[in-house]
Amino acid sequence: MNTINLSDKVFEIFISNLEIYTRTAELAKQINLDFQNKTPVIIGVLNGCFMFMANLVAQISTNCEVSFVKVSSYQGGTKSSGKVDEILGLAIDIAARDVIIVEDIVDTGKTLQFLISKIETLKPASVKVATLLLKPDALETQIPQITYVGFEIENKFVVGYGMDYNNLGRNLNDIYKLC
Ligand code: IMP
Ligand code: MG
Repeated sequence: MNTINLSDKVFEIFISNLEIYTRTAELAKQINLDFQNKTPVIIGVLNGCFMFMANLVAQISTNCEVSFVKVSSYQGGTKSSGKVDEILGLAIDIAARDVIIVEDIVDTGKTLQFLISKIETLKPASVKVATLLLKPDALETQIPQITYVGFEIENKFVVGYGMDYNNLGRNLNDIYKLC
């Protein structure tokens, strides 16, 4: 069994880099179709999105702007705290623009809901969300803006490919789940 240790926990291999890459290519293809002749603003939610964002935007062929924001709800550990801080770093004027928010994972959905409500006060033309992972059983509110989903997964804590456990594991090339 292919396992790794991070801090006090053991994780096993779950989704390989090849599977991530293949699925991301499919999402990019759909985004290219949906945003033909448009110039979306693609906003990555740091820190977790960095690997998915890089892989995704590298396969976007329509003109686009790329930006990042930071907003955190996890204070370490493996449970969503539900406490969301302010958004930091939204430098682009998104009024009347088509926005695509890029997330690593949607768990309870609280972070994303907060971010969408802040972004909507800035009067964009449209808001869609691309997330690599979605945990349907953990989601507490329906979020209709979620349009592009890499993988729906069971309600287990995962790390790797940008996602962390106590700040460790973001560098891993594959996704692992808690044993
Ligand atoms: P939510 O507000 O509960 O949806 O959590 C959102 C954020 O928490 C995600 O964008 C991740 O950064 C982090 N997160 C949620 N689930 C996991 C997980 O299983 N592993 C690592 N980070 C997670
Ligand atoms: Mg995130």
